[in-house]
Amino acid sequence: APQLPRYTRAEVAQHRTPKDRVWVTYGTDVFDVTEFVELHPGGPDKILLAAGGALEPFWALYAVHSQPHVLELLRDYKVGEL
Ligand code: HEM
Repeated sequence: APQLPRYTRAEVAQHRTPKDRVWVTYGTDVFDVTEFVELHPGGPDKILLAAGGALEPFWALYAVHSQPHVLELLRDYKVGEL
């Protein structure tokens, strides 16, 4: 697979709104989930809490995400790595 770009956490943090794009990290992977915000089963407000940063603290609280189909969905939105 072609190599994706590397980003810093500071760059990811600049993507916190649909207008600026909504980026999140999971491990060292970076995702642009802008197009998924309105599709999120937990609603747009909840997913936007994680915008610009790491998913882990939120997903630790909402175990519904600890399923293979959630990570498979996320993989489609990968845009880079930290
Ligand atoms: C449910 C994906 C971020 C809260 C779900 C489900 C998916 C999903 C696929 C349905 C799972 C199932 O029922 O099998 C994602 C993705 C996220 C994200 C891809 C980030 C890119 C968040 C965040 C929060 C959150 C940050 C909380 C702050 C919830 C809640 C539900 C849920 C509460 C349950 C909704 C319900 O069944 O009523 N999410 N989520 N999610 N998510 Fe997220």
